Amino acid sequence: MSTEQKDILENRQGEVLERSTDAVAAKKLYIESYGCQMNFSDSEVVASIMSENGFSTTRDLEQADVVLINTCSIRENAETRVRKRLTEFKKKKADNPDMVVGILGCMAERLKKSLLEQEKLVDLVAGPDAYRDLPNLIDEVGTGQKAVNVLLSRDETYADISPVRLDKGGISSFVTIMRGCDNMCSFCVVPFTRGRERSRDPQTIVQECQDLFAKGYKEVTLLGQNVDSYRWNITNKGEIKNKALPTVNFAQLLIMVAKVSPDLRVRFSTSHPKDMTDEVLTAMAAYENICNYIHLPVQAGNSEVLKRMNRGYSREWYLERIEAIHRIIPDCAVSTDIISGFCAETDEEHEETLSLMDIVTFDFAYMFKYSERPKTLAERKFEDDVPEAVKSKRLTQIIEKQQAHSLASNKRRIGRTEKVLVEGVSKRSEEHMSGRTGRNSMVVFPKGNFEKGDYINVRIVDCTSATLLGEAVEN
Ligand code: 5AD
Ligand code: SF4
Repeated sequence: MSTEQKDILENRQGEVLERSTDAVAAKKLYIESYGCQMNFSDSEVVASIMSENGFSTTRDLEQADVVLINTCSIRENAETRVRKRLTEFKKKKADNPDMVVGILGCMAERLKKSLLEQEKLVDLVAGPDAYRDLPNLIDEVGTGQKAVNVLLSRDETYADISPVRLDKGGISSFVTIMRGCDNMCSFCVVPFTRGRERSRDPQTIVQECQDLFAKGYKEVTLLGQNVDSYRWNITNKGEIKNKALPTVNFAQLLIMVAKVSPDLRVRFSTSHPKDMTDEVLTAMAAYENICNYIHLPVQAGNSEVLKRMNRGYSREWYLERIEAIHRIIPDCAVSTDIISGFCAETDEEHEETLSLMDIVTFDFAYMFKYSERPKTLAERKFEDDVPEAVKSKRLTQIIEKQQAHSLASNKRRIGRTEKVLVEGVSKRSEEHMSGRTGRNSMVVFPKGNFEKGDYINVRIVDCTSATLLGEAVEN
């Protein structure tokens, strides 16, 4: 696997995040996040709840009174990494026995017993809907009780909580618009770890985006497991809950957020092929600040595999949605997620994933080997019968194809001028800055006098499969 590919996978699986705020308070919270963007966003909600209770965040583990680790269960290796980290915390605790160590997020429900009682790796366990209870749980640890709350809720959206932004001075922020998932894709553990789908009050979403813009943020990413099924004041059977109030679907929400300011870029993740409507695409086309980029996980290119995955669409349906994207939004970038070696996948079925990739030519993809997860439909119904070596071989073929497509996609940008939001100094060179295009490509260009948060026009002169290289031109 190339370094670039490793970077891609690492980013998707979530690198460790340790950040801090400035406030000085008596007690210190150290928080680390793993996994999806939703977890990173949740950690900001947690920091807010904790700050109301006298905690400020620290980057320095040595200073921490409370250490929280926001965990991911999506694949087995995500859990393995968290366990390793918890073992390191346990060693730290030997020197500082008063330090409280807790786990949050998706591993909480599944592993509460073993982590708390058998392995004694943590003092506290809080599931994704239990963060308001954290101050009580911390008090319970102090009194020697087992501090656990993994109850899932049907209506918790943390709508009223103003997240503490952990990326100080940032220009781009996540805004959670819904929680949970009702889809039950057969490979996926999320419906079990995060519970039922519920949408957040749109007024609080718009308010949060307005506040962010007022603080200098230039980009928001609206987050949900399946943003296309966002609905406010409508039941999942399509009935209006309160006739006196307006209903809001995802397309309408996008427009409400886009109207906050033309200088606030709007992104969203994740779309679902079975639910993505032309109304959403039309909203994207109508507002320049809604970025021309859609992450539309396909998972597999064969309709029988998709049926076993319980994805709710066929290969043909997916390809039709891709056509709709290109018809309604010219020059829209599309990325995807692909799983290799799902239960009973044959060579012919795998070939159809490769052929679908050739038809769509995704600009970018996150690619994984199937990893069986406890409790899921696939674990109960199917055998994880594709040998590891075959999964790996297929994954390599998928990755190699994607790299060729990503490179070709980037090469097509050479000679064009792109509007770039400057994110900061390039990781690889002090003399360069980096930023993103609306299509979500990373662009590196000579530093000039630009600052984080500027919009500039960059002419693309060269590229790799992961990055565009350019030079700023007059606006
Ligand atoms: N094995 C491998 N990949 C998975 N994903 C979700 N569950 C699994 C699993 N059990 C991938 C899907 C999803 C992305 C977030 O993670 O591709 O879209
Ligand atoms: Fe998991 Fe499917 Fe829900 Fe995505 S849509 S979180 S893959 S169940």
